[in-house]
Amino acid sequence: MGRRESPAKHYEGGLDADMALTARLQRGETLGDRVMKVDHAGEHGAICIYRAQLWFARWRAPDMVGELSGFLAHELRHRALFGAELGRRGRRRCRSYHLCGLGGFALGAVTGLLGRRAIAATTVAIETVVLRHMHEQVAELSATDPAAAATLRDVIADEQEHHDISDRRLTPPGLWPKLINPVVAGSTEAVIWLGMRL
Ligand SMILES: [Fe+2]
Ligand SMILES: [Fe+2]
Repeated sequence: MGRRESPAKHYEGGLDADMALTARLQRGETLGDRVMKVDHAGEHGAICIYRAQLWFARWRAPDMVGELSGFLAHELRHRALFGAELGRRGRRRCRSYHLCGLGGFALGAVTGLLGRRAIAATTVAIETVVLRHMHEQVAELSATDPAAAATLRDVIADEQEHHDISDRRLTPPGLWPKLINPVVAGSTEAVIWLGMRL
């Protein structure tokens, strides 16, 4: 798919076009500003997913309540970190913020209702996409925006842990990852794509 952004608003960095971060930036906005904004909205989505999953997990997967509460605490910290960066930069939250929250809540409710393997498959699908994007963001920003890169590195450590803990719950993988991965990974990609261009 070609890039159709107008050249004046088009940022393209990196050596490999496939790996490049592409954003439609507003006047005076840096790539780091935009990444903080999109990731802040994404963390809000994650909070809503875990809140909804926790609600159903008390009934469908009680043994996961402690684990999900820990993930939720991490996501609250991540949103606060990106929010603090936005505040320091004088930037408002993303236009996709409430969409992320609503989508996250719906996804969390459906998968929470489906039970422990669907819950774990959702985290693995999301974190796989999120980790790839965050590693790209760090690579892109470490030279030009050290504060953004440092925040991302801090968050990445937790996201990797969420991925690994949930992935261990999916051996053998069974049916849920096959059903959930395309939908959830695709939606996560779409939300990030949209956030970078809104
Ligand atoms: Fe997070
Ligand atoms: Fe996470």
